[in-house]
Amino acid sequence: MAKDFSTMEDSNRSSNPSIHELSDPARRVLLRGGLGATVAGFLAPLAGCATGGIGGSGPLLGFKSVPVSTADTVVVPEGYSVQVIAPWGEPAGLSGENTAFKWDASNSAAEQETQIGMHHDGIHYFEQNGSTSGLLVMNHEYVDDGLLHADGMKTWNAAKVRKAQAAHGVSVIEVEQKGGRWTVVRPSPWARRITASTPMTLTGPAAGHALLRTAADASGQRVLGTLNNCASGITPWGTYLTCEENFIFYFNGGDTPSSHEQRWGLRKGSAGGYRWHEHDERFDAVKHPNEPNRFGWVVEIDPFNPSMTPVKRTALGRAAHEGATAAVTKDGRAVVYMGEDARFEYIYKFVSRDKIRPGGFAANAELLDHGTLYVAKFEADGRARWIALTHGQGPLTSANGFADQGEVLIKTRQASDALGATKMDRPEWIAIDAQGWVYCTLTNNSNRGGDKQPGTDAANPRANNTMGHIIRWRDDGDFDGATFEWNHFVLAGDPANERAEAQGNGKGDAFGCPDGLWVDGRGVLWIQTDMSTSAMGRGDLARLGNNAMLAADPKSGEIRRFLTGPAGCEITGATATPDGRTMFINIQHPGETPSERSDPDQPRRISNWPDFRANGRPRSATVVIRKIDGGVIGT
Ligand code: FEO
Ligand code: CA
Ligand code: CA
Repeated sequence: MAKDFSTMEDSNRSSNPSIHELSDPARRVLLRGGLGATVAGFLAPLAGCATGGIGGSGPLLGFKSVPVSTADTVVVPEGYSVQVIAPWGEPAGLSGENTAFKWDASNSAAEQETQIGMHHDGIHYFEQNGSTSGLLVMNHEYVDDGLLHADGMKTWNAAKVRKAQAAHGVSVIEVEQKGGRWTVVRPSPWARRITASTPMTLTGPAAGHALLRTAADASGQRVLGTLNNCASGITPWGTYLTCEENFIFYFNGGDTPSSHEQRWGLRKGSAGGYRWHEHDERFDAVKHPNEPNRFGWVVEIDPFNPSMTPVKRTALGRAAHEGATAAVTKDGRAVVYMGEDARFEYIYKFVSRDKIRPGGFAANAELLDHGTLYVAKFEADGRARWIALTHGQGPLTSANGFADQGEVLIKTRQASDALGATKMDRPEWIAIDAQGWVYCTLTNNSNRGGDKQPGTDAANPRANNTMGHIIRWRDDGDFDGATFEWNHFVLAGDPANERAEAQGNGKGDAFGCPDGLWVDGRGVLWIQTDMSTSAMGRGDLARLGNNAMLAADPKSGEIRRFLTGPAGCEITGATATPDGRTMFINIQHPGETPSERSDPDQPRRISNWPDFRANGRPRSATVVIRKIDGGVIGT
């Protein structure tokens, strides 16, 4: 999500000590060992990947970089092609549902429920027939009501709220390739729309907790829908993880929010952007104070079972989740790394109690319900540790307001505050390379070092951090290691910037505000940017043009700009076919205006991508990238 630097959530008023006060050499423990075969097995495309093509021997980055662009189009290097598929509003392929997109945005809520959602984000290709057909599962993070309805928000009613809810969530679509061109299969038995109204189950230690019970759900285990689905991940057993990011902005609070509500940013007017609470009482947190507690989870979806009830995994903690990236320990347990994209929030990892079993989702249906959640505490000397969020340990006791493990997980932020975790500059996506280094984008934090705000620390070293950085770590011994080493892969920036702190230290092409992150089958680290629409093209970002995707060599640190997006968009989500010859990425919110709600009278003011119709409107869509010679992407 592109967010205005000034409106991005900043709710951490805890008095955690700074990193400088925490460094304690006595805690240094080195347990580094080799990575096991299981890891390479899960990160299958990485196994045996040298530089060059999959099986090839050329340089890791074999393309000529593209320049900064402000054009309303997708630009890729010479020798590459771009195809647009699955834009917002096209039929998802549900059986018997084939209503076309209406260019004036007059499709009904019921029609939108059968159509691809708005604001595409995290995405993954699940192969069916290798690299020629599979399922694309993608998130729809939020909506621009100025484009979603023919007259925007000028009138506001229950039907518009229902349409907005239907444009959220997740799409599962079937895609196939013939001669290098990809099409959406319609109808498809796999096609599915999951929305802000789809029934879901809450499982794990917090399921059924008093804080999760509502008037509509006395069990505290049944919730409707998923919200603000931003980054995504996959599990080693073949399911999709979708992350509920800035859910609090869908809920309206009261005049006197509780300390719990304040810690999560709930206040009177917090739902002023979406205004669902005006026609759907569930989003009025004064009347239904526990409803927000039912969001902020990582949700597991089995794409190969269209009737499966999505599961919110409370064991992974509650946060404004951005990303859930899995690894496997040498003895076969699952580890999930997660960030929380809000200013001064934290980085987490979950380690499963049990080992992964063969047999897909059915055999691992409860694997993410049992395990230990940890939060990261970075030290100034390049060392760090994971602190368990376990009830009864340290400050996480009833006396301190945590009645049980369920309450620790529902109040993950407060628990992390109490444990003195490190306040980060908006942790976004996470990716893991073949050497076991885990990379996390810290997109920006203009409040760092500000008045009455946390100062810089070793892990977040720049005040007024408008450019962001990428941190990386490697757990000691194995992915379940209690301690780790860390360093900065890159401080993003523009070497030509007059402000020294905005220049960065990148080797290669300039960029700012890293968000999406993915390691491909050859080991290329793909970086996608999300300079907010309100900041793009001015100030520190003046020379960086539209949002972009860059390719980095994790060993040399070289970074090359591979793709630039259309006007007003962000680039997000990346996945590829197993042969590495087709890459899918998402273009989110082309045409977004600094106010974040388009003017329905001027829908094409900023962008008219990808359709460029005289009566059309910009639409988020998936972009298919191929090499014209059919080669492997990036070579
Ligand atoms: Fe949805 Fe953190 O970007
Ligand atoms: Ca972002
Ligand atoms: Ca993001």
